[in-house]
Amino acid sequence: MKIVSLHLENFRTYRKIDLEFNSRLTFITGNNASGKTNILEALSLLSHGKSFRGSSDYEMVSDGCSHYYISSRYDRRNQKHEIEIGCDVSSGKIKRKIKMDSKVLSGRPALVGNLISVIFSPADIMIVEGGSSIRRRFLDLVISNQNPDYLKNLILYNRSLRQRNSILKRIKEKKASAQDLLPWESGISEYAEKITKSRLDFINKFQEIFQNSLKRISGSRDFVSMDLQLCEKETHPGFKESLKDVIYKDISAGFTTIGPHRHGIYFQIDGRDISAYGSQGQKRSLVLALRVAQFYYLKENLKISPLLLIDDVIKELDKERRSAFAELLHESGQAIFTTPDLEGMESFLKDTKSQIEIINVNSKGSVLKSQLEN
Ligand SMILES: Nc1ncnc2c1ncn2[C@@H]1O[C@H](COP(=O)(O)OP(=O)(O)OP(=O)(O)O)[C@@H](O)[C@H]1O
Ligand SMILES: [Mg+2]
Repeated sequence: MKIVSLHLENFRTYRKIDLEFNSRLTFITGNNASGKTNILEALSLLSHGKSFRGSSDYEMVSDGCSHYYISSRYDRRNQKHEIEIGCDVSSGKIKRKIKMDSKVLSGRPALVGNLISVIFSPADIMIVEGGSSIRRRFLDLVISNQNPDYLKNLILYNRSLRQRNSILKRIKEKKASAQDLLPWESGISEYAEKITKSRLDFINKFQEIFQNSLKRISGSRDFVSMDLQLCEKETHPGFKESLKDVIYKDISAGFTTIGPHRHGIYFQIDGRDISAYGSQGQKRSLVLALRVAQFYYLKENLKISPLLLIDDVIKELDKERRSAFAELLHESGQAIFTTPDLEGMESFLKDTKSQIEIINVNSKGSVLKSQLEN
């Protein structure tokens, strides 16, 4: 995967910029709040159709503007492609158009899986420290990159779930009866089983890559297990029967109490949950290892080296982890970093053994380019 250019219009701090990427490694430097992460956000938006910061389109449109337009040209297996996203919020509603090689795409599932990227961000620590919903999002993103049907099933599942939940609420209010649920049970069960199967298969395959990454990152021999926990009374396969078992519970709750939207994902050392039990260093190593494993997993399964987007994480790594990171870069096609400055990173830059391009941004949205020979 190789990004050739990026164009931003009315996106966050940028009224209009054109960037070209000529080296394998690019460092985006600049003061705090100068717009470095905004560039990675645009690239990850083109890759996943969603902001990695969880921002809405309203937040990404430049202040005082009613639309943004972003596009990128990139090479994938030596084939040239272009992705464009235009978004208009002027009517108070979000109207998005996504194009791939000048053809309009039907939506996110058609976009995901084209421009393959892995983003490292300081907020990744939430994958370990936050609730299961954040870990499900991590899993869903990696599986969707490998299998676009997974994202389609997830969208259809969530649609059926909303419908089932609204009927459950109406039953609770005595405006509908349990019979009204029947037409939805088959669809929701079919999607739930497909999602659960993909998640179980994924964790099975991912586990070993993740252990190897953890060893490389921390040198630790600890075995950290990653487990998917189904809900109480949920069986796989047989989701339709599980729904029957919880029908009274669901009616009294007014929502669906079991299913992929409530799966737990846990990391454990010696049977103890790492979010409660692990040290800060262990948690940091774990999230870094997860992202590194995401890179190798996608590389192995797609036979493509994902684009690495590395938001401000190098400086906080100790010497050992930095050299593990430099090793990863040797195996990557292209990496784009953000960092306020390059101070204290001399040995890391040397270890990367590559020509490095530096893009310096400032809060007025202007950019300055230079090169560093290694
Ligand atoms: N919709 C928007 N329109 C204009 N400016 C915005 C918009 N959204 C965010 N900003 C500005 O973007 C800036 C943050 O940009 P960004 O997160 O890219 O900074 P950064 O260079 O990565 O900083 P740091 O080094 O602190 O991580 C903030 O000053 C914020 O006010
Ligand atoms: Mg930033």
